[in-house]
Parts: sequence; structure tokens; C-alpha cells
Amino acid sequence: MNPRRIGAVVHELGEVDSTQTIARDLADARAPEGTVVVAEHQRAGRGRSGRAWLDRPGENLLFSVLLRPPIQAAEVPQLGLLASVAVAEAVEDLTRLRPGIKWPNDLVFDDRKFAGLLAEAASDGTAVTRVILGIGINVNQRRFPIDLATRATSLALARGAPADRRHLLDRVLGRLEHWYDVYLDHGFKPIHPEWSRRAVTLGRPVIAGGIRGTAVGLDHDGALLVRDLADRTHRDLRGSSVSSAGREGDRAPRG
Ligand code: BTN
Repeated sequence: MNPRRIGAVVHELGEVDSTQTIARDLADARAPEGTVVVAEHQRAGRGRSGRAWLDRPGENLLFSVLLRPPIQAAEVPQLGLLASVAVAEAVEDLTRLRPGIKWPNDLVFDDRKFAGLLAEAASDGTAVTRVILGIGINVNQRRFPIDLATRATSLALARGAPADRRHLLDRVLGRLEHWYDVYLDHGFKPIHPEWSRRAVTLGRPVIAGGIRGTAVGLDHDGALLVRDLADRTHRDLRGSSVSSAGREGDRAPRG
């Protein structure tokens, strides 16, 4: 399958600092929407909230997708939710395993994370000028650093056999293309039930946006609804960094 817009141009690279940075530089050079940068290894892979994203060379999928959606800065986290649905579907297609989504857009098997997403956007104040959607999927990695060993997993560990990274990339890009088209035509509404039915967070205790409570649902715009002990409901809308200076906010590689 060869997606029309997303993945029409794919830059396949070896070792890089971060595919996010390369995709951002390509965006600055007016690369077309849907341009993909994929690498074998990142020296300074970035995760959400300033954390590092570590990989073992040649074992995983590490890629960034350039998007130019006509949305407002506040809507950028919806793209992370959308992409988590796309990754879950692609993984399910390829492996017959059924991943869960942990708020906002971590992909898990039995509470162990195997994929994460990062949406870094630039805006001119309110309207978004571009989004770099970064996706890291632990595909064939079987050994993890000691501090991650009980929290991380991979497709190979979950299914007991290696997976073809190229096939998985093609499927993820195909599902991303599908849901991105739906989103551009109909907004977040059709994504909402897809995310919700895969969510493992709902009904669980959470600390979200500094509020301790129970995750009770996803609001119409993708904010997590959290009910606190006093039965008050709060909203938490996370999942992206937006800079208004025309460049995505660079994060420290370790946190
Ligand atoms: C998370 O913290 O869960 C998000 C991880 C996102 C990692 C991917 S790997 C490809 C792209 N390049 C990066 O530096 N980060 C993203």
C-alpha cells in the first residue's frame, strides 16, 4: 500500500540526533506535507515532557511526519490521540495483538509501553503553521535499560517473534493517512470513540494536570476528564509542545 499524502516522500537515514530536528529543518525548507523522516538510530531521541527516547540501533521504528493541518494551537494534542489510534490499528493488523492506549498517547501491552508519540508544533500565535509528529515503536528490541525493564516492552517480546519494520511503517502511514483525512473532513469527533474504546486509562486512578482523581472519559475536544475526590470534574489537555516563535520548542534530551 502506498499512501497518497503521508509517506509520498520518505527520507531513510542511518544515525541521527533526532528525526524531529531533521523533519523540522525540512519543514523550514518547505518540504511537502506528509514528508517522513525515518532513522535506524537516534543519538538524542526526544520523548514527551523533556524525557529522552532511547533505542537500540536497527531494532525499532523511529520516525517523524510533517503535517500542516489548518487547526488552532489548542487542538494539536488531538493529533497525538489520532496517531495513537493509527499505530494501534497498524500493530493489530500486523500482529493480531490488541494494544491499549494509555493517556494521552502511549501504546501498551499489559501496562508495558511499547510505543510513544510526540507532537511538536509551531504556530503564528493561534493558528498552527506545522506539526512534527514523532513516533517511536519498540519493534524488535528485547533488552531494555534496568530502569525501564519492568515498564517497557516491544512487539517482538509481546508476540514472541520479530516483526518486519518496513511493513509496520507502511501500515502505520496508511492508517495515519486514513485518520488524518477523516480529521481534516470531520474534526476530532470520529476519532473520539476509536481512542476511547482502546483506552486503558478510563476508570483508573490518575494524576493529570496536577489533579488526583479517576479518569472518567474523554471530552469532545480530546481533553481527559478527571473526577476528583470531591466529585468535581477537571479537564486535562496534554500531549504536545507548541511554540509561537515559528520553531518547535527544543527539549533537553534527558529528563
Ligand atoms: C514519548 O515520550 O512517549 C514520545 C516518544 C517519541 C519518540 C519518537 S522516535 C522518533 C521521533 N524522534 C524523536 O526524537 N522522538 C520521536
